[in-house]
Amino acid sequence: MQKEQSETNKKAWSYRAYEWWEKKSGTPKDAAADMKCNPEKYLRKHLGYMGDVKGKNIAVLLGSNGRKAIPLALLGASVTIVDISPENQRYALEVAREAGVEIEYIVSDVFEIDLDRLRHNYDVVYLEGGILHYFVDLNPFARIVYDLLKTGGRLVLNDFHPIRKFLRFAENQGVEIEGDYFDSRLFDGAVAYRNMFPQSERSEFPDCLLRLWNMGEIISAIASCGLVIEQLIEEPRTEGNTFLPGSFTLVANKYIFQQQPF
Ligand SMILES: C[S@@+](CC[C@H](N)C(=O)[O-])C[C@H]1O[C@@H](n2cnc3c(N)ncnc32)[C@H](O)[C@@H]1O
Repeated sequence: MQKEQSETNKKAWSYRAYEWWEKKSGTPKDAAADMKCNPEKYLRKHLGYMGDVKGKNIAVLLGSNGRKAIPLALLGASVTIVDISPENQRYALEVAREAGVEIEYIVSDVFEIDLDRLRHNYDVVYLEGGILHYFVDLNPFARIVYDLLKTGGRLVLNDFHPIRKFLRFAENQGVEIEGDYFDSRLFDGAVAYRNMFPQSERSEFPDCLLRLWNMGEIISAIASCGLVIEQLIEEPRTEGNTFLPGSFTLVANKYIFQQQPF
């Protein structure tokens, strides 16, 4: 099932993604110039969870167009992106070249990476903004994160808050309850940038196949793979209704000991 989901999402993220990044962030040259001015701005408070990144090996999984990985490389980290979309890779590598940094960009389903080469390689595994809904089961994903990390390494995982499973936000800032927090079904959903294109072109965009997770499922998957959760920070929405959570960041560490199965 993961294979089918990943193939569907690869198709979705390979359709006009390069064009979208140029629309959104400008030419690779413009995007690189902005990153070089202030790389920290792109990493927001997540940088604070990574310590001094200079000299660290960082894997940015589902790292898309490089808007996190390239600023990390500008700050002196050695960065590997894993992402399923060749269109994202093309944009990211062009931005990296313009920014004067080298990054490794692996175009692959995260579930099919070469663990023999990458195991125990990373000080930090970083994922951000629209991640877990691409997975049909969180346990194999958590296991891959565990395997990629060195002992003493750290996961920084930021994603949309699961409250979105049952809240809908109207344009007038109204909030409605709709949906089921415990819904475990896969569903078709528009790729993130589809609605930024003219209405007349939207039907041509292949859909993503998504699964929304609740907080208990997320925490349980990360904890049960052997990582020790240090913090779970719930962050307020940034555009309206700021009394509700919009995202969360989970920080978890890989320590030396490994718990025996209970
Ligand atoms: C919304 S983006 C995540 C945001 C990203 N961190 C950024 O900086 O823009 C989701 C990314 O996940 C990638 N993706 C989806 N499923 C994947 C999978 N199974 N393996 C690797 N990448 C995947 C997509 O190609 C897309 O670039």
